Amino acid sequence: MEIVILESPAEVGRVAAALVGKVVTDRPDAVLGLATGSSPLGIYRSLAARVAEGELDFSRASGFALDEYVGIPLTHPESYAAVIARDVIEPLGLDPARVRVPDGRADDLEAAAVEYDGAIRTAGGVDIQILGIGANGHIGFNEPTSSFASRTRIKTLAPSTREANARFFDDPAQVPTHCLTQGLGTILEAKRVVLVAQGAAKAHAIAAAVEGPLSAMCPGSALQLHEHATIVVDEEAAAELALAEYYRYTYAHKPEWQRFD
Ligand code: F6R
Repeated sequence: MEIVILESPAEVGRVAAALVGKVVTDRPDAVLGLATGSSPLGIYRSLAARVAEGELDFSRASGFALDEYVGIPLTHPESYAAVIARDVIEPLGLDPARVRVPDGRADDLEAAAVEYDGAIRTAGGVDIQILGIGANGHIGFNEPTSSFASRTRIKTLAPSTREANARFFDDPAQVPTHCLTQGLGTILEAKRVVLVAQGAAKAHAIAAAVEGPLSAMCPGSALQLHEHATIVVDEEAAAELALAEYYRYTYAHKPEWQRFD
């Protein structure tokens, strides 16, 4: 894993966006794996600024969202379909027809999950997967005890996840109880992964994912099995990393050709 520790949340967004931008520059029809939540907003803002400057063009790229709540109306502003449209498709100039979100309204949710997983493979797989991490170590909505081999499926949200996401809803009781999420096995098939985390609330999850044992209790630790996973964190989210000095030294001494910022 490559661990990048930066001064501020803004730097986290800028550097992770540089990695995504490089993938799209090298391959304009790249397949993007799209996370929602607060963590990747800085990435999307930084990419949108570069699109506005004419430096990047996402018009030929496609995307697959990580997850969606079950049962939430598509028109609800916090459905991930609405969030992806608002925070990603519009500002980056993606073609809405090329971006998919799991169908949390499907009559047959299991079939919808299997179809979604297959569609990612049919598209040739995700070129770069953007991830955040929950304070409980989840990636996507793969809550603790998720199998490392799991595919896109229905999951029950952990009570702590529903509490954390209550900030997006008028009433905590409105937070859905279930979701469709790409599985850990699905995420691990992405060609590159960039996970971002900011703030002290993520420090424990980051240390467990990066330095802890491979464990279903910290689903983010599955990324230790990935060949090209980059973890970009601010100082607060890095606070519990035992080898922080080593990561800083390694990043500061990377040869020019390996840098992406
Ligand atoms: C979002 C997702 C989640 C979030 C995680 C962190 O699509 O799958 O794993 O990345 O819950 O959320 P924030 O970034 O809001 O702290």
